Amino acid sequence: MIDKLKELEKEARSKIEAASDLDQLKEIKVGVLGKKGALTALLRSLGNVAPEERPIIGQKANALREELELTIERKEQSLRDALKAGQWEKERIDVTLPGRPVQIGQKHPLTMIMEEIKEIFIGLGFQVVHGPDIESEYYNFEALNIPAEHPARDMQDSFYISSGFLLRTHTSPVQIRTMEKLAPKLPVRIIAPGKVYRRDDDATHSPMFHQVEGLAIDTDISFADLKGTLLLFVREMFGHGQKIRLRPSFFPFTEPSAEVDILCIMCCGEGCRVCSYTGWLEILGAGMVHPRVLEGSGYNPREVTGFAFGMGVERIAMLKYGIGDLRLFFSNDLRFLKQFD
Ligand code: PHE
Repeated sequence: MIDKLKELEKEARSKIEAASDLDQLKEIKVGVLGKKGALTALLRSLGNVAPEERPIIGQKANALREELELTIERKEQSLRDALKAGQWEKERIDVTLPGRPVQIGQKHPLTMIMEEIKEIFIGLGFQVVHGPDIESEYYNFEALNIPAEHPARDMQDSFYISSGFLLRTHTSPVQIRTMEKLAPKLPVRIIAPGKVYRRDDDATHSPMFHQVEGLAIDTDISFADLKGTLLLFVREMFGHGQKIRLRPSFFPFTEPSAEVDILCIMCCGEGCRVCSYTGWLEILGAGMVHPRVLEGSGYNPREVTGFAFGMGVERIAMLKYGIGDLRLFFSNDLRFLKQFD
């Protein structure tokens, strides 16, 4: 019997030692100490042992039971510790690893040009104002002295929303909204940047593009003020050696009107393909505010005068950055956009 006990102990210890997880250990425990376990069975068979030996063997068997319980408990603890360590290992963060670079966005080239234009005019005392993209025919045309039969009103050129309303085809309606709000206060000095819409789509025209409108009204504003303001703007924008050229033109809301050119960015006036060998590039339309426009918006044309101008932001960006196709601005191509970092 003693030998049997010893053998049982040896076998149990080696099994416990070898157990690799908690389930296995539990199985071993049941197999030795459980109700139908080996040690339990051995104790039950104590009846077969000579009576004088029973207490000694019983004592030994009970002592062994306690020892094995303790051993299993210790093994269980060590298995749990190992498990935890494994989890820690899995969750470990190596703070010395180099980081994964995050791609950082940057300003869109049109945003940069917009901001540059605004900065220049803010520096001249102009205030930035905004108007709605959806305009009434009144503000987009009528108040700007564009009569009903004018081709600009044609459905071919404008996006109409419903009768009487359309997507503004220029930022000039903000002139009217500003004057209506401020009249008869003087001086008026505002620029109005924003989106405009026309039914156009090719390499130099997009159905949506951006303009910056300018308007100045006071008691003594002359055409020379317009010219001086635009020359200063052009020199800030395109370099201090720049020149402007004014050509007579027509807009229903300005009189006289002019189209303003700058020296060709590519050839500086020599004549090249970009400027069609003229040496000049058109960048904006301008003029003295038409008396009818002043009058209709609350200013007395016998007391005040004003100038207005409107420029295309895409066109300025194309010239400044040497971009041949306007559609690139709206294609969301990162290879294009990244070049303006
Ligand atoms: N609104 C005109 C256009 O879109 C530009 C302009 C603005 C001309 C102000 C004169 C004065 O073409």
